[in-house]
Amino acid sequence: MRIVVAGATGNIGALTAAALERAGHEVVRVSRSLGVDVVTGEGLDDALAGAGAVVDATNSTAADPAETVAFFGAATRNLLAAGQRAGVRHHVLLSIVGIDRVDGNAHYAGKREQERLVAAGPVPWTIVPATQFHDFAEMVAGWTEQDGTAVLPPLLVRPVAPGDVADVLAEIAAGAPQGRHPGLAGPGPQDLVDMARRTLAARGREVRLVPSWDGLFGAEMAGNVLLPAEGARIAPTSFEAWLAARRG
Ligand SMILES: NC(=O)c1ccc[n+]([C@@H]2O[C@H](COP(=O)([O-])OP(=O)(O)OC[C@H]3O[C@@H](n4cnc5c(N)ncnc54)[C@H](OP(=O)(O)O)[C@@H]3O)[C@@H](O)[C@H]2O)c1
Repeated sequence: MRIVVAGATGNIGALTAAALERAGHEVVRVSRSLGVDVVTGEGLDDALAGAGAVVDATNSTAADPAETVAFFGAATRNLLAAGQRAGVRHHVLLSIVGIDRVDGNAHYAGKREQERLVAAGPVPWTIVPATQFHDFAEMVAGWTEQDGTAVLPPLLVRPVAPGDVADVLAEIAAGAPQGRHPGLAGPGPQDLVDMARRTLAARGREVRLVPSWDGLFGAEMAGNVLLPAEGARIAPTSFEAWLAARRG
């Protein structure tokens, strides 16, 4: 099957493209650096020609809710319209567990818009909400790190390995549309500050970590709001195993 991966140079997109190729599919990689822009629509019709499925693993770096809604709105409208023109039979969207339970997060506003458009759109779909990835803590710490100190929220998460997310997306893309997937999470709960501390230690880096709800992640994200619902698919790779593999 010919499968388009939008965001194919990104963290999950690259791994998904590789997983699809291992399974014998023909992969068309889409990203701006590869000459296709999902926001302007440039190059999309050519990229989607003959495709049976599209996996959307694009991402926005915007920090403002209006900007994330504009990015994901335009990207999703363009992908769905081009998909309809090309006769795509399955649109797979990578989303995030818990976005409906948090109002104040800018990225989540864009993801909600993306989900809304896919669910109301013309192409049969599967929305796959995943929990935070194993490398999320290090990324969040990196956003504020200055002079050896980083500030990050003590989120309760049940993180999942990027490779496991990619394997599940590849498996889903090759199958029939499922509508809303029950969600994808890793094997156990973690504290984001502790994850960051252990990841940085594994890299031999000393960074003082300050827990705080004053930032991109407010106190409305405390408690169980980011944890998966009952019935979620539990991926096999623990945070500890992922960390050990990176160390090795
Ligand atoms: N981080 C987490 O813990 C987490 C958890 C659950 C779900 N998610 C979701 O997972 C998705 C993927 O995240 P990620 O970390 O893998 O993303 P990422 O590494 O930031 O990669 C983003 C990809 O999107 C492409 N892209 C950005 N703008 C584009 C445009 N206008 N046209 C075409 N391609 C564009 C980028 O390539 P170019 O720059 O070359 O265009 C890149 O390939 C996101 O939607 C995120 O919400 C993340």
